[in-house]
Amino acid sequence: MELLEDDTAIVTGAASGIGRTTAKTFANNGAAVVVADVDEDGGAQTVDDITANGGEATFVRADVSDADEAERMIETAVDEYGGLDVLFNNAAIEGPVDRLEDYDTDAFEQVIDVNLKGVWNGMKYGIEAMRADDGGSIISASSIGGEVAVPQYSGYGAAKAAVGQLTKYAAIEYAEEGIRANAVAPGIVQTEMIERTIDEHPEMEEQFLNTEPMPGLADPEEIANAVLFLGSDLSSRVTGVTLPVEGGYLAQ
Ligand SMILES: NC(=O)c1ccc[n+]([C@@H]2O[C@H](COP(=O)([O-])OP(=O)(O)OC[C@H]3O[C@@H](n4cnc5c(N)ncnc54)[C@H](O)[C@@H]3O)[C@@H](O)[C@H]2O)c1
Repeated sequence: MELLEDDTAIVTGAASGIGRTTAKTFANNGAAVVVADVDEDGGAQTVDDITANGGEATFVRADVSDADEAERMIETAVDEYGGLDVLFNNAAIEGPVDRLEDYDTDAFEQVIDVNLKGVWNGMKYGIEAMRADDGGSIISASSIGGEVAVPQYSGYGAAKAAVGQLTKYAAIEYAEEGIRANAVAPGIVQTEMIERTIDEHPEMEEQFLNTEPMPGLADPEEIANAVLFLGSDLSSRVTGVTLPVEGGYLAQ
């Protein structure tokens, strides 16, 4: 039996990187997947990748920071596939790389809007749909920057730390209703987000390569597999945790 057989999953930020790879991993494990993103071309590509492989997926354009669009995203899962079992709140932006006093205020607000309010919106509307479908699993993307301070990432890190706390609240408030909530905290993963940062700050490449005790950067699949574990019944007694997937970085 497939791990997500007969399940419906939503992956936000599924047009790229970890989100795209997780959407494909979910589909490979039997889920019908709602691919949500602001990037319509990338989202369509993810859907094509899934359907070409015999899976089921549909795209919805949704800016997760907008409550109405987030609600519509959840409705898409219910309307298209009859419910919601797994929600991966993955969409985020990296924001500026600057020390706190130089960090642009508008950019700070944007990072909080997408990376924190976006997760909040997903939970707020997703919980209702999961309750109507006998429970489910919410996974949200945190980061090592939400666990310890990573210099020049104050907005991003503060939002990610708050994602861990939101996760705990959702976990305890909905445990009795069969809804689990967990987060993943990746280290440095080979995605477009990291490529953009290296393009703008070439000096950071060396630092990224040497961040994790395990050599090199993580592959998006290594994060997707952890999310699959948290999304499936393999983790049926796990709730309220942030699972580090960072090659040992936080063990130091
Ligand atoms: N790449 C890493 O090293 C790393 C490390 C730790 C945590 N993370 C986290 O993992 C998640 C995925 O990161 P990634 O590296 O795959 O990034 P990415 O930039 O490759 O993909 C992010 C996706 O989110 C989408 N997105 C951005 N704003 C959105 C919005 N308002 N509404 C909907 N979609 C939106 C983008 O269009 C893009 O498709 C993020 O939460 C990120 O913070 C990444």
